[in-house]
Amino acid sequence: MTKVLAENIIKRFGSVTAINDVTIEFKHAELTVMVGPSGCGKTTLLRMVAGLEDPTSGNIHIGDRVVNDVPPWHRDVAMVFQNYALYPHMTVFDNIAYPLRSRGEPKSEIKGRVEQTAASLGLGHLLDRKPRQLSGGQMQRVAVGRAIVRRPGVFLMDEPLSNLDAKLRVEMRAELKRLQEDIGVTTIYVTHDQAEAMTMADTLIVMRDGVILQAGPPQTLYDRPDNVFVAGFIGSPSMNFLPCRYEGAGCLTGRGFTYPVPPPLRAPVEAAGAQPLVLGIRPEDIGVNPQPGPADTVLARVYMLEPLGRENLLTLEVGDVMIRALSGPDIAVSLDQTVALNFLPERVRVFDRTAEKALYPDA
Ligand SMILES: Nc1ncnc2c1ncn2[C@@H]1O[C@H](COP(=O)(O)OP(=O)(O)OP(=O)(O)O)[C@@H](O)[C@H]1O
Ligand SMILES: [Mg+2]
Repeated sequence: MTKVLAENIIKRFGSVTAINDVTIEFKHAELTVMVGPSGCGKTTLLRMVAGLEDPTSGNIHIGDRVVNDVPPWHRDVAMVFQNYALYPHMTVFDNIAYPLRSRGEPKSEIKGRVEQTAASLGLGHLLDRKPRQLSGGQMQRVAVGRAIVRRPGVFLMDEPLSNLDAKLRVEMRAELKRLQEDIGVTTIYVTHDQAEAMTMADTLIVMRDGVILQAGPPQTLYDRPDNVFVAGFIGSPSMNFLPCRYEGAGCLTGRGFTYPVPPPLRAPVEAAGAQPLVLGIRPEDIGVNPQPGPADTVLARVYMLEPLGRENLLTLEVGDVMIRALSGPDIAVSLDQTVALNFLPERVRVFDRTAEKALYPDA
C-alpha cells in the first residue's frame, strides 16, 4: 500500500507562507488532483512529496514511513513536469530506458520493460526516433514512459499537459487517466485547469493561498461546495452568485428579485438571520421563460445570447448583477427583452457572504 500523507505541513520561503498547515491523505492507487489558482502552493506541496523541497514543519509519509530525511531517489516516486525535457540526442527507447540503466538493471530486463511501457503508451513503433521527430503529444508520452518504467510507488505530475494544444490535452488526459487506472499507481496530479481536474480526479483537492478549501470526489465538490470559492472554481461556465438577504417571510431578497428559500435551507437561512448572504445557482439549473407572468419573482434583461450549437449561453442582468444561463437551442428571445428565471430549488445554494461558507441543513 503506497498511500501518501502530508501531515501538518507548513512551508515558508522567507516571509512567504506557501503552504499553511495542510493535512491531507493521498489514497493508495487513486488519482488525486490538486487544483487552484496560480501561486496557491500546488507545486510546492508536490515537491515536498518528491523530496525536492523540505517542509518548514510537519511530516511527509509515503507508505508506512516518514520520509522527511529520505532523499528523492530513495522515496520510490517518479515525477513528470510541465517541461518534460527529454534527452534530445537519445532515441525514444534510450530516453525511456534511462532510469533503469542509471539504476544498473540488467540489459535483458531493460529491453522487456521499455518495450512493455512503450506499448502501453502507444509508442511501440517510435522507439528508434529522436525527440525532434515526435509530436508534442508523443513527447509527452515518452516523458510519462520514462517516469513509469521503473514502477514507482507514487507518480507525481505537475501540469504535464500544459504545453499541448487544447485538443491534444483533452485526448491525453483521457489516456493518462486510463493508464493510471491500468497500472494502479498512487498518483498526485497538479493542474490549474478545472475541467482537467474534474474529469481526471478520483479525489479532487481545491487549494487557495496555501490551504486546502475542500477535498473529496469531484461530483461532491460540484454538487455540495463548502464555500463560495470552490463553488465558483469548479464548473464551467461558473456558478452565478446573487447577493441577497433574508428579510423574513420565507424569501431571499436581492436587488431586483425575491426568491422563496427552498424548504431544506429554511432552518440554516433563518439561523443566519439578517447576515449578508449570496444565492448561488449554476447556469444549467436556470430555466428561462420568455413570457414572464405575474407570479414570477426573478426577472432579468437579456444582455447577450451566444449559440453554442447544442445549447445557448445567455447573459442576463438581474438587478445590477450579470449572470449566465444555459438554455435549449430553440429559445426565442431578443436582446434587452425581459424574461423570467426559474431556479431549480434543489440546486440553489446559499452562502454566508462574510464567511463565504455554504449553508446546509445538516452542516
Ligand atoms: N523557491 C521559492 N522561493 C520563494 N518563494 C517561492 C519559491 N517557490 C515558490 N514560492 C512561492 O510560494 C507560493 C506557492 O508557489 P507554487 O509554485 O507552489 O504555486 P503553484 O500553485 O504551483 O502555482 P502555479 O499554478 O503558478 O504553478 C507562491 O507565492 C510562490 O511565489
Ligand atoms: Mg506550479
